Amino acid sequence: MRPAVVVTGTDTDVGKTVFAAALVAALGADYWKPVQAGLEGETDTDVVRRLSGAVQERVIPEVYRLRTPASPHLAAELDGVAIDVSRLAELPEPASTIPLVIEGAGGLMVPLTRKELQIDLFERWAVPVILVSSTRLGTINHSLLSIEALRRRQIPLAGIAFVGDENKDTERTIIEMGATRSLGRLPHLKPLDADTLRAAFAAHFDAAELRNRVLA
Ligand SMILES: Nc1ncnc2c1ncn2[C@@H]1O[C@H](COP(=O)(O)OP(=O)(O)OP(=O)(O)O)[C@@H](O)[C@H]1O
Ligand SMILES: [Mg+2]
Repeated sequence: MRPAVVVTGTDTDVGKTVFAAALVAALGADYWKPVQAGLEGETDTDVVRRLSGAVQERVIPEVYRLRTPASPHLAAELDGVAIDVSRLAELPEPASTIPLVIEGAGGLMVPLTRKELQIDLFERWAVPVILVSSTRLGTINHSLLSIEALRRRQIPLAGIAFVGDENKDTERTIIEMGATRSLGRLPHLKPLDADTLRAAFAAHFDAAELRNRVLA
């Protein structure tokens, strides 16, 4: 199977797409958002294309593009679409040697259908997961709950990518009590564009280590 990593988060809007765009650029990876809910303005795939500078071919089309910005199970129902999880069970182009960065919708316990959660799909793929966690108040609870859910299903956790202003005790507490490691922290960028993102990722993350340890 091709080298792949799932970028998930403690919540919607936590910074998964921005982090994924930086990772795609740093690793020369393909990007895949299998289920996109919400098509107004830029989709996550559009944002990754803009922020990573990825050429079109590096971005794999979504399997489901749903109009409503809601949980996929509901967005699908409103669109009159039945999500068939078996269509998501295989990674695209499994024989490729180009690393694949996969972004989930929202957080781990988001329903794809009335019966299946996104974390069930991650379990089936059995690829390592990077958990994007903010450094804001409330993140310790969300992060430790997410880590526990991953462990219960024996989904490999590659580590935490923090997003936001430095918060030393919060980061330490999540890492220690979650028995995991920090991959780095992406500060809040202003402006946020492909250049500032590339520079921030290079300053705060070790791309070579990610390639060797996560995608080996
Ligand atoms: N490091 C950052 N610096 C500045 N702005 C950021 C940063 N990370 C995220 N943002 C902004 O925060 C918002 C949410 O980020 P993003 O879209 O990456 O979240 P997400 O977790 O992918 O959300 P979704 O669940 O909808 O996929 C966006 O407006 C994005 O531009
Ligand atoms: Mg996103």
